[in-house]
Amino acid sequence: MSLLDIHVLGSPILRQETERISTITPELRRLIDNMFETMHVAKGVGLAAPQIGRRERLAVVEADDVRLVVINPEIIIQEGSAKGEEGCLSIPEIYADVTRFARVTVRAQDIDGNIYEIEAANLLGRCLQHEIDHLHGKLFTDRLSLLKKRAALREWDEEKINYPKFVRVLPVGDLPPERESENL
Ligand code: NI
Repeated sequence: MSLLDIHVLGSPILRQETERISTITPELRRLIDNMFETMHVAKGVGLAAPQIGRRERLAVVEADDVRLVVINPEIIIQEGSAKGEEGCLSIPEIYADVTRFARVTVRAQDIDGNIYEIEAANLLGRCLQHEIDHLHGKLFTDRLSLLKKRAALREWDEEKINYPKFVRVLPVGDLPPERESENL
């Protein structure tokens, strides 16, 4: 397996719509393995294809003891609202409270192309919504109020100088285990 570079806010691919996956190739399976590996090393609980510079409608998630390959997902039921703190592997060090649906049912395909439905709340539900946003070019900062968004983007202005060409190369070896559960 190999670690993938993570695109950070400012990289155009994070803003592009993804393309539906019709065939699950061996190359795609290797990509999925590498996405899980990259997510683990980066201490995240979710990672979407645009974050590693790809156009496929694909994400991996590992939250609330559930590990999911999420291909061509859509939210088919949504209920309530819940606020919780989020970060993103593509916007390192920036965290903010985001209001989302409290509970969603997502329909997606697994690594073998089989369709499944999963009902999720709490961190898993939040993570699925965050990753599905990524697959449509949307970031959590887009969901903040104008004032909170401005504050977050000001912080990011300082932070982004650490990522030349808007690419984050993961160091070999462990990152400090901070705020792991909120990096989606
Ligand atoms: Ni994210």
